[in-house]
Amino acid sequence: MPARRSSDSEAAVEHPPSEIPLSRPRSPSRACGWSPTSWKSKPDAQAVRYDDPAAVERVVARIKELPPLVSSWEVERLRSLIADAQLGRRFLLQGGDCAETMHECRADTIANKLEILLKMSLVLIVSGRKPVVRVGRFAGQYAKPRSRPTEIRGGVELPSYFGDLVNGPAFTPEARRPDPERMLSCYQHAAMTLNFVRSLSAGGLSDLQRPECWDLSFSERADLPAPMHESFRATTRQLGDALRCMDALGGAGNELSRVEFFTSHEGLNLHYESAQTRVAPHRSEYYDLTTHMPWLGERTRALDGAHVEFLRGISNPIGIKLGPTVSAVDVLRLLDTLNPGEIPGRIVLITRMGADRVEDTLPPLLEIVKRAGRRVLWVCDPMHGNTITTASGVKTREFSAIVREIERTYDAHDACGTYLGGVHFELTGDDVTECIGGSVREEDLTRAYETLCDPRLNQAQALELSYCIARRMRAMSP
Ligand code: PEP
Ligand code: CO
Repeated sequence: MPARRSSDSEAAVEHPPSEIPLSRPRSPSRACGWSPTSWKSKPDAQAVRYDDPAAVERVVARIKELPPLVSSWEVERLRSLIADAQLGRRFLLQGGDCAETMHECRADTIANKLEILLKMSLVLIVSGRKPVVRVGRFAGQYAKPRSRPTEIRGGVELPSYFGDLVNGPAFTPEARRPDPERMLSCYQHAAMTLNFVRSLSAGGLSDLQRPECWDLSFSERADLPAPMHESFRATTRQLGDALRCMDALGGAGNELSRVEFFTSHEGLNLHYESAQTRVAPHRSEYYDLTTHMPWLGERTRALDGAHVEFLRGISNPIGIKLGPTVSAVDVLRLLDTLNPGEIPGRIVLITRMGADRVEDTLPPLLEIVKRAGRRVLWVCDPMHGNTITTASGVKTREFSAIVREIERTYDAHDACGTYLGGVHFELTGDDVTECIGGSVREEDLTRAYETLCDPRLNQAQALELSYCIARRMRAMSP
């Protein structure tokens, strides 16, 4: 273990909660030859081309000194919840923006996002009958992988927009120039977001003990179809009854009423991630403390690449996106590299095959992981394999394809005898028109199309999906 400088500490004193076990089978921080910067010697499929390396080093040095955004004991708590979910005892709900922006770091946007995640989790808890682990794609989802490094408009070629962490969305040479100072600004915006999320979860949001109050504010929204509205009303009544009943039996309603959020983002810009990677007090492992759960993207999961190298050495739970081209053997190799010690709660496999590819691509992966006896949490991302472009050039997703991917993913797990333990969505609590379905027709798309990257579900679409999932969960529960 390296000598610890004071700047490596996440806090002067950190008291982990007593229920979190500190001893673990094997620490990935002891991974051979690893350091927080060993990724630099590996190929990076999405490397940012900064034109001033000294400026990058200055910013990284500053972020290193700043306090961590999350604590290791929170990370460990999430890992233990995921470990539970891997055994079929919990369900993971992960959602938020495709590309978070600094401009959207606003009270209403953040509160709406928490509200929709809470409402979805309520439906899943009551109708699906499983405790839900809520993980936001927020407080750090500022970096985007791109299929092409440059974009051409009207004969002009500029770097693509790689997310606010790297450059700006405006199509000008100044905005598109990768600017390392943005890492610092995004760190600050992530901290502001997290600060607000923490205070809202500590009591500023709707009171879960009185879900009928939710229903009131909810029913004021005019854009919900009547059957969905009725269904939600019945669910909140049911939850209210359940909580009161448990309360009368001695406060056993704690599990249902705890409003806990975790953060996640794609661990893409490794300068930013490694700047906040440190050894926590009272522990011997390294943690990436920009977020509770970083994930490995479909474009950066090369076994010999920089991202796998970075993630293998940190102790956070990690997500791995798996698209239709991944081979079963590669999945096993990724598990060997990223979780050689079979640490419970470490690996979340997020499949995003596309509705029409699930049936041929997913079963072999489920089979091989099951046969190898590897412990993972299977999660379905029904968004990224179902992106289409309309005839008029708008990037969108069809609600029906999203539902189909979820249904087929459930079918594949049922046939294999594995547990689908979570879902991963791009969504917002705002009334955007980015995905087609419900009240949004193709001709409505441009009315409130705000995303800078992929299209997100709006509040009504997201909620309707939670009912679809809950129905399926309920059908499976004993
Ligand atoms: C994303 O989640 O925004 C993303 C780019 O996903 P994927 O890596 O699965 O394409
Ligand atoms: Co996306």
